[in-house]
Amino acid sequence: MDVYGLWKKTAYMSITRNSIMTKDNKPLNLVIIGQGAIGLLWYSHFYKNLDDGGVYLLKHGKNNKQQTISFTDINNHNEEIPRQEVTIDGLASAKTILICVKCYQIDQVIQSISPHLNNHTKIILCHNGMGGLSELSQALLIKHNVLTLLTTHGSLKMSSSMLKHTGLGQSDLGYYRGNITTSDRNKLIQAFNTALPTTAWCENIKEKQWLKLAINCVINPLTAIYNIDNGQVLAVKFEETINEVLHELIAVAQCEGVHFNFKSLKNKVLEVAYKTAKNSSSMRCDVLAKRSTEIAHINGYIQKLGIQYDIKTPTNDSLIAQIQPLYLGSC
Ligand code: PAF
Repeated sequence: MDVYGLWKKTAYMSITRNSIMTKDNKPLNLVIIGQGAIGLLWYSHFYKNLDDGGVYLLKHGKNNKQQTISFTDINNHNEEIPRQEVTIDGLASAKTILICVKCYQIDQVIQSISPHLNNHTKIILCHNGMGGLSELSQALLIKHNVLTLLTTHGSLKMSSSMLKHTGLGQSDLGYYRGNITTSDRNKLIQAFNTALPTTAWCENIKEKQWLKLAINCVINPLTAIYNIDNGQVLAVKFEETINEVLHELIAVAQCEGVHFNFKSLKNKVLEVAYKTAKNSSSMRCDVLAKRSTEIAHINGYIQKLGIQYDIKTPTNDSLIAQIQPLYLGSC
């Protein structure tokens, strides 16, 4: 039995009387909340690599969606993935819940799902940006092990049922709060790694969160403002802006106890732009679809901390000011 099979077997053995069994008697195991580009990317990979189909999407919205997701993988291979959905009552039987929503939606999601959760359920938060969990949500999650999943994969949702994996990235999983056994942790990491490599366990997820923030502070606003693919931020004309965004971020991060070397940070940011060159960033997609953007939790987070620590952040401020008129909503 592969390791992932072991994880599923453990889940199967630990089901309670209240467990929801699917039509074909499979235990409900992992539920993904959020059917955006990243939620569907994880769902498709878990579904493909999970032989008993123990991954589900939380049902939302009207009942008019396609029964399958047309998924094109990184090698341009297309397949139809059945859309397995559960209602909110099904969350009580989930061992793990992966929340892939916008940073500004997390509070609303936590508050609506928390009455339905089993105390043993692990919650994994996967989003861009920082500062999304209010004190109320943190209190609601107090009984749970909460983890953070960071990913640099590029994914494009062409419609509610069409998804393309556009950039090969990597993911890091670490504690937001809590403590799970080493064996549970290993099973979880291997499950994610089997679904979509590579996923690594990270003891210091805060540093990785800041690295992801730096990537998003550069790629997201530039691609949204200039309506370009990620790879185009590598053009020489953006170099000065990129340098300034990163210098401001490094100064603010230092006050938060996170230390970066400018050259290596810049290389890491540019490497993601290169590896996801053909991807349309999430902020660019939001702007084009006239949805709220995550700017308040990305460059806005740098601006907020800059004010708090009395550090000037003019380039991040200017990117925020250029993004705001491009969308209709607020966040
Ligand atoms: O927000 C995004 O689009 C992604 O985080 C990333 C890594 C910039 C790839 O497009």
